[in-house]
Amino acid sequence: MDLYQKDVVSIMDFSKDDIEGILDMAEEMVPYAKGEKIKRSLDGKILGNLFFEPSTRTKLSFESAAYRLGCDVIDVSEMSMTSMAKGETLADTIKIVDAYCDVTVLRHPYEGASKMAAKFSDHPVINAGDGAGSHPTQTLLDLFTMKRSKGSIDGLNIALVGDLKYGRTVHSLADALTMFGAKLTFVAPESLQMPSDIVDSLRRKGCEPYQTSKLEEVVGSADVLYVTRIQRERFPDPAEYQKVAGTYRIDNKILREAKSDLIVMHPLPRVDEIASEVDGTEHA
Ligand code: CP
Repeated sequence: MDLYQKDVVSIMDFSKDDIEGILDMAEEMVPYAKGEKIKRSLDGKILGNLFFEPSTRTKLSFESAAYRLGCDVIDVSEMSMTSMAKGETLADTIKIVDAYCDVTVLRHPYEGASKMAAKFSDHPVINAGDGAGSHPTQTLLDLFTMKRSKGSIDGLNIALVGDLKYGRTVHSLADALTMFGAKLTFVAPESLQMPSDIVDSLRRKGCEPYQTSKLEEVVGSADVLYVTRIQRERFPDPAEYQKVAGTYRIDNKILREAKSDLIVMHPLPRVDEIASEVDGTEHA
């Protein structure tokens, strides 16, 4: 696995072997992430953390990881606080950040923004979520969680639930899980089903996802329920959002039908799609 100076734009930038190598390394890094061991392997480096869409987890996780490894961080959280507010292009902004930093982490509302940024950067660019496109680092984390919890991902029965149209995490995750030979079920209202180009691409790679709108069809057989928020901010028409808001809610009553070792995952933030009572169960 040679990832030195490599961009992370899409999970498809990695082979299955690469991902397995990253997951093994992540396991070794857990004590450092918790601050139980110290490693300053990025001493003297600077990370540029550009978050042009709201984030709690991803932004802070990059900052925390950088500081734990001795890397300094410079960041911007508002486009309005950069010279883009004066009409500068993203390409020019990225070139400047690239000149000051050793790596750029970018969250942006437009699909393809990280791919474009990578073209204009000499240093690596990491996609921290590009609109409704993809979220490859979230997928690495999700695979890590599944592997830790289940031992192996091969052959798991995994249901992706909720907003599969606009949900960037499920786009990346479906690609990765296909590499790992998982069995996929897509549970969504018809208007929020997985985009057909993604389904076609998964089929070409040997995955035959089952698509349904009925959560109760899958709860009893799933090994993993991966639940996502219906993303109000991506709907061009608020009336369309209202038609599907609150479609699914995982609570302890529904989970009575589940296998005892089912795990419920969510990339977060959640709104009301998982009841907080689930947090206290073995499924969470
Ligand atoms: N999972 C995730 O991307 O969360 P944030 O939007 O809080 O970063």
